[in-house]
Amino acid sequence: MEPACLTLQQRLAYERDGYLVLPGFFPVEEAARLRERVAELLSTGDLLAQRSVFTTREQARQSDEHFLSSGDKIRFFFEEEAFAPDGALRQAPALSINKIGHALHDLDPVFCRFSRAPALRALAADLGLRDPRLLQSMYIFKQPHIGGEVTSHQDATFLWTDPPTALGLWFALEDATLDNACLWVQPGGHRGPLRRRFLRAPGGGTRFLELDGAPYDEGQMVPLPVPTGTLVVLHGLLPHRSGPNRSPRSRQAYTLHLVEGWAAYPADNWLQRDPAMPPRGFDEP
Ligand code: FE2
Repeated sequence: MEPACLTLQQRLAYERDGYLVLPGFFPVEEAARLRERVAELLSTGDLLAQRSVFTTREQARQSDEHFLSSGDKIRFFFEEEAFAPDGALRQAPALSINKIGHALHDLDPVFCRFSRAPALRALAADLGLRDPRLLQSMYIFKQPHIGGEVTSHQDATFLWTDPPTALGLWFALEDATLDNACLWVQPGGHRGPLRRRFLRAPGGGTRFLELDGAPYDEGQMVPLPVPTGTLVVLHGLLPHRSGPNRSPRSRQAYTLHLVEGWAAYPADNWLQRDPAMPPRGFDEP
């Protein structure tokens, strides 16, 4: 990735639409390197000991300590449909993982280097971030046949700061198409209200705090099919989603979320990190 500045048109388009599609932002060889690194992690990690299922339906996440303590770790989460009724995996473990979260960017040297590329620091500055901190990363598999749906949401729901500053960077590590469940976004939807926050519940587990009942305008959503090497920038308030993947091809992506270091980060946000491991900026070792 070479440092590159956004054009004025790109900056204006981001302000207007709440997202930006940057094809060819990183080389396809780099995407292959990240996929290979994850294959290594999968071959060495004790996957079946980490049988947490990821789902966007709130019940399944409740009281999931594996999830709640993953903010500063590398943890594996299985697809909801990965297991047969008898508890056996339907596909090989490497084809059953939904995602890896949430600190690859800090704990894995390959992802750390990729996530702190000078081009990303330049991009964050171009988008107006003054003190960007790398808060969260996810490796998303969208497995063949069983890749789960992610219903419409705003990332600020999960990464709230006061004021809202979350910014998502979505890296296509494989071609994302209509068939293998590419992203869908609501252009301009970032000017709408934050619908809810995802919190740690006082008695343990998690809950949603409803803030605004305005429904997402699903009819306004547009698909973003993109080739490998594309970076999609997503405003933290932009409604977006992706469907289930019923195709025979995976749709792997890496996501990195930035927040402003000067913004307040509430203690009841679901994602908490060890105080000894605060989110770092692009330049901090
Ligand atoms: Fe999202």
